Amino acid sequence: MTGIVIAIDGPAGTGKSTVAREAAGRLKLAYFDTGATYRLATLVCLREGVDFAEHGDVAAMVETMNARLILDPRGPLFLLDDEDVSRLIRSDTVAMTVSNVATNLAARAALGDWQRRIIDQERTDGFSHGRGVVVEGRDITTVIAPDAEVRILMTADEEIRVARRAAEGADAGTVRDAVLGRDRVDSTVVNFLTAADGVATLDTSDLSIAEAVDAVVELAKEAMA
Ligand code: DC
Repeated sequence: MTGIVIAIDGPAGTGKSTVAREAAGRLKLAYFDTGATYRLATLVCLREGVDFAEHGDVAAMVETMNARLILDPRGPLFLLDDEDVSRLIRSDTVAMTVSNVATNLAARAALGDWQRRIIDQERTDGFSHGRGVVVEGRDITTVIAPDAEVRILMTADEEIRVARRAAEGADAGTVRDAVLGRDRVDSTVVNFLTAADGVATLDTSDLSIAEAVDAVVELAKEAMA
């Protein structure tokens, strides 16, 4: 028996992180937020003074950093040299800098290898004891886990995505630039706006979080049956 992999991608403001995490909790699976690996790499580079323009240096830092993830959907934790940096990786400084890593193809390759190892481990052991993982991020259904049992692209109308992020704080104009601007930059290296073959599209424009979680759980149960 090997565990199930549920892969979810899509742009900012679709509710993908919350939905992935809650679905993992309901299904008793691990929850893997791959965006956090980009944020960890960014934080390390900021701390070590690595020049983001030096793509090879950033990738080398990714390969040598001592980072660890606790894939608990009830309280995911991100550790650097055993220091809990879960809050620090959400700082504005990291958020404003992370696209430097997300658009660095050498760093993406190194982070992708690490992500695949984590996913493989959850199929047989790991936090879920082999039950499996809900893994979320921009290139997960296409590049990182194209063989996942369930693959979902979460979408939502642009205005709704901006409004959802604005509801979390900040003014609408700033949020619009941040959400759409970052998607634009990131979409130069990853296509996360259209569903690949075999990927189910889940439009959350008119869905509550609970309804979106129900939809993901339903797809997972069909795949496990
Ligand atoms: O989802 P997030 O905001 O934590 O993602 C952080 C950054 O990493 C953002 O620029 C998107 C990018 N990312 C990516 O390119 N590929 C992934 N699998 C996950 C995140």
